[in-house]
Amino acid sequence: MPAPTNQAAWLIEADTPLQVDDAPLPTAGPGELVVKNAAIAINPLDCHMQDSGVFVQQWPAILGCDVAGEVYEVGPDAQRFKTGDRVIGHAINLVSGRPQDGAFALYTVIPADKAAILPDAISFTDGVVVPFALEAAVCALSLKVPGVAMPGVSTPAFGLPYPSLQHPVPSSGKTLVVYGGSSSVGSMTTQLATAAGIDVISIAGAHNFDFSKRCGAAQVFDHKDPLVADKVIEAVGKSGQNEFVGIFDAIATPETYAHDLAILAKLGGGHLACVHPPPADVPVNVKAGMIFAINDVTTPVWKDYVTPALQAGKLQCLPPPTVIGKGLEHIQDALKKSKAGVSATKLVVEL
Ligand SMILES: NC(=O)c1ccc[n+]([C@@H]2O[C@H](COP(=O)([O-])OP(=O)(O)OC[C@H]3O[C@@H](n4cnc5c(N)ncnc54)[C@H](OP(=O)(O)O)[C@@H]3O)[C@@H](O)[C@H]2O)c1
Repeated sequence: MPAPTNQAAWLIEADTPLQVDDAPLPTAGPGELVVKNAAIAINPLDCHMQDSGVFVQQWPAILGCDVAGEVYEVGPDAQRFKTGDRVIGHAINLVSGRPQDGAFALYTVIPADKAAILPDAISFTDGVVVPFALEAAVCALSLKVPGVAMPGVSTPAFGLPYPSLQHPVPSSGKTLVVYGGSSSVGSMTTQLATAAGIDVISIAGAHNFDFSKRCGAAQVFDHKDPLVADKVIEAVGKSGQNEFVGIFDAIATPETYAHDLAILAKLGGGHLACVHPPPADVPVNVKAGMIFAINDVTTPVWKDYVTPALQAGKLQCLPPPTVIGKGLEHIQDALKKSKAGVSATKLVVEL
C-alpha cells in the first residue's frame, strides 16, 4: 500500500489566513505517537498565535492543540498504545515549535504521555473537546511548587489532589471559586476539582447555570450581577468547616481581577490562579500566578484517569462541541467564529 500523504492548514505569516497545502508525513520519535486526526478543536490561543505570530518558533507554522483520531504510528517507549487505537491527545507545538506537533493537519505527532484511549462509545468530535482544557485544568489545580509561566510570572501552586475514580468521592474539605465556569478551561477545572472532592463555587453567565452545575459546581453566580463578589463571599462563608483555598480565574480581565481581589480581601487571602498574567501588586496574603498549560504534572491524569473516567461517565466531554465543517479548509472559518466569542461550547472541525 502506498504511504499516505499529509496535508495541513499552514500559517505562512502572522495575520494571514491559513492555507491548506501538502505537509511531510510525520514519524513518531521516542515517547511519541502519530495520530491520523478525525477531529481537531479550536482554542483562543490559536487565534492569538495566528494574529500576532506570538510563540511561533518555526515558519511556516501548523497551529492547534487538540486532536482526536486513530494512532497511525507508535514510537519507541510509547507501547501503552498500538496502531489503530482511538485516542485523544494534546499537541504541543506551543513548546516544541515543530510544525508536525500542530493539530491543524491530517497527521499530528503527540506525546504518548498526553494521550488517552477514547472509549468506542464516544465520538471523535465529542472527545476532542477534552485535551487542552484538561491539561490546563490539572496545571491549575495540582502543581505543588510554583514554576515559571513566563519571564517574571510564576505558575500557581494550589497543590490540590488529582481527580479520583471513587464514587462518591470523599470530600477534601476544601472550597474553590472558579471564575468563568462555562468556559472550556473553567468547566473542565470544575469537573476535575469536583472529582477531587473539592466544593466548587462557579461564576458564569445566567444562561449557563445548569451547564456549570452539570460540570459539578455546587453553586453558580451570574458574572453580570453587580453584587457577584458579595454573593460569592457569602456563599464561601456558608460552606461550613471547609477551607477556602482561593480562586481559579479562567477569564482574567481587569473586571474579573477586581472581583477576585475583593473576594480574596474579605476571605483572608488565598491562591489566585489566572489564565493570563495576574494583577500587579496583589496583597501579601494572595499567592497569584498564571497557569502554563503544558506540564508533566498532568501525566498521571492522562495515564490513569482519563479513559476510565470517560468510560464511567465521570469525565464528560464538555463543553459540547459545535462542529463547523469537515476538512482542513474549515479551520479558518472556525478560528473566525472563535474570535467572535463562544458560550459553553468548543468549536470543532472534522477531518
Ligand atoms: N495560560 C494558559 O496556559 C492558558 C491555557 C488555556 C487557555 N488560556 C486562556 O484562557 C482563556 C479561556 O479559554 P477557554 O478556551 O476556556 O475560553 P472559552 O471557552 O472560549 O470562553 C468562553 C466563555 O467565557 C465566559 N466568560 C466571558 N466573560 C466572562 C466573565 N466576565 N465572567 C465569567 N465568564 C465569562 C463565557 O461565559 P458565558 O457565556 O456563560 O457568559 C463563555 O462561556 C482564554 O483567554 C485562553 O487564551 C490560557
